Amino acid sequence: MTNLFVAVESGGSGAAVPIILLVVALIGFAVAYFVVGPGKNRQGPKRHGDIPLSMRPYHSDEELETTGMERAMAWGVAFAVFSALFLPLYWVIEPNRIAERNNDFYEQDVAAGRQLFQDACASCHGVDLGGGSAPNPDAEIAAPWPAPALNNIVARYEDSEVVEDPYELIMMTLENGRPGTPMPAFSVGAGGQYSDNQLNQVAAYILSIQTGEVPEVDAQAFVGRSGEDLFADHCARCHGADGQGVVGPTLQNLYERYGVGEGDDPEEGREVARQAILQGRYVPGFAPMPSFRQVLSEDAIEAVIDHIESFQTTGGPRYGQIGGPPAAEGDDQ
Ligand code: HEC
Ligand code: HEC
Repeated sequence: MTNLFVAVESGGSGAAVPIILLVVALIGFAVAYFVVGPGKNRQGPKRHGDIPLSMRPYHSDEELETTGMERAMAWGVAFAVFSALFLPLYWVIEPNRIAERNNDFYEQDVAAGRQLFQDACASCHGVDLGGGSAPNPDAEIAAPWPAPALNNIVARYEDSEVVEDPYELIMMTLENGRPGTPMPAFSVGAGGQYSDNQLNQVAAYILSIQTGEVPEVDAQAFVGRSGEDLFADHCARCHGADGQGVVGPTLQNLYERYGVGEGDDPEEGREVARQAILQGRYVPGFAPMPSFRQVLSEDAIEAVIDHIESFQTTGGPRYGQIGGPPAAEGDDQ
């Protein structure tokens, strides 16, 4: 995230420093030229006009050894003191100045991001970023589509094996939206209304107010609920009410696709499902499957897998209604 602010910094006042150095160097050169360079003064007083340059009288030995030398030494000391003070001072002050500038930019970004968020995101994700919901794009499905809490997104993905960088996940999601889900695309390139800079500001805002807390799974809440019900609540919006596949792949032929045939040990198929449910799946630019480790209890997950196992058939493609990400289409792993 810091890259963002360094980039802003060097694009702004960073360019002024070389120009100032150049101007100072030019002035220094001009001064030197007129003081000691081959300027008019070197020709000496008019009365020596007829004496060759190399033979004209200059300062007397006495003067050279006293005032002249002292003046030269005084200049030397002055420049030495200047260098000795200025360079370390610059070295001490500059990082601090840059940090302060970065901080100013950062605070401006966060303030702008807060406003952009309240305008465009709060209706679904909550004014306090605590999460909310949106109507399902499929009008026949009454259950709303949960919009995840964003004030703990860093903590939620901390142990994730599929999402390495929450900042990237946020930017990717904002730029492309999540086709097939209610999450719209916001980048101008994808038909949205926000520039890349504005999306960075929204991301900076989201990352600035992380609570770091992930709610505990309440195992009691799932006691007595059937795998079928849990599947309807948590999986059907992406995998279809019958596991036929919508945004996510069909699960009806899951075991077959992973080489678990009739008469084989179903545990291998269950393990594929278990890992997908625990880790989630991340397909950049496509609706990823969230991890349910922080949503469902262990028993609830096994109940959902029982349900998936109950509707296994053979044949058919991997993806259902909407189709998969281009890279995954047709590969049958
Ligand atoms: C119409 C409702 C809606 C609006 C408006 C909306 N979102 Fe979303 N957003 C969602 C839904 C629903 C999801 C979950 C999609 C899914 O299941 O994959 C989501 C997912 C996300 C995610 C991914 C979270 C995660 O844990 O995977 C981020 C980040 C996000 N939205 C940020 C934003 C930001 C920032 C804005 C405003 C610029 C915004 N959203 C506007 C509904 C919305
Ligand atoms: C927001 C959408 C979404 C939700 C909700 C969701 N999934 Fe997924 N799921 C996906 C996507 C997308 C993939 C495929 C990713 C890929 O191509 O690897 C997937 C993959 C899977 C896989 C692996 C399938 C395969 O062919 O490799 C299983 C098993 C699975 N999901 C089970 C579930 C279960 C069980 C639930 C509910 C507890 C659930 N999913 C909820 C989107 C979702």
